[in-house]
Amino acid sequence: MNRAETWLVNSPPRRWLQRVYEVPVLLRMGGRLLPCTRVLEIGCGSGYGSQLILERFGAATVDAVDLDPVMIGRAARRLARYGDRVRLAQGSATDLRTALDVDDDSYGAVFDFGIVHHIPDWREAITEVGRVLTPGGRFYFEEVTSHALARSTYRRLFDHPTDDRFSAEQFLDELVHHGLVVLGSLTRVQGDYLLGVAAKPVRTGGER
Ligand SMILES: C[S@@+](CC[C@H](N)C(=O)[O-])C[C@H]1O[C@@H](n2cnc3c(N)ncnc32)[C@H](O)[C@@H]1O
Repeated sequence: MNRAETWLVNSPPRRWLQRVYEVPVLLRMGGRLLPCTRVLEIGCGSGYGSQLILERFGAATVDAVDLDPVMIGRAARRLARYGDRVRLAQGSATDLRTALDVDDDSYGAVFDFGIVHHIPDWREAITEVGRVLTPGGRFYFEEVTSHALARSTYRRLFDHPTDDRFSAEQFLDELVHHGLVVLGSLTRVQGDYLLGVAAKPVRTGGER
């Protein structure tokens, strides 16, 4: 993330949007978490999303991973007050075994506040989300689509991978490809932004 984007994602208007608009939309689509729910946040940045996950979604604990050690340092300072309810790790959302030593079916919910579009091999991140969710677990996502990334303002100001970015439809298709069921989704600003929730189905008798 370059300096302009670091400033933007941590700015008061973005935090306000996340708190006042995105959280209520995601809660409407996916519901509040059960009090015992263990959560993973991928690409936690400076930790504001993890704070919302604990305070507004009612997570018991949050494991949060980010590629950038500077962001992990910021998140550690912000989230210190939650003690051992938060575990932070530097590493990639595409390899959670290395970052957090995570087994399959580990988390009741995974959150993505605008990170998957940063990952060159973004499908690998979706594979990991599907792997680490427990059956019945939910994936809450807020994403930036190829439509936004193609805009000249985005290209001038920010630094994103340019190849193989996803439209809203392609992102949702990838979730389905990994066996997730989309509970709700919507796009905003002419398809630039995607918000939604998907669930990993509960296995029925006889399935392996
Ligand atoms: C646009 S910021 C969003 C940060 C935070 N989720 C928020 O909403 O403020 C994207 C974040 O993804 C992180 N990131 C990029 N690639 C990643 C990867 N492969 N695995 C984990 N984090 C990654 C960046 O370091 C950055 O903190």
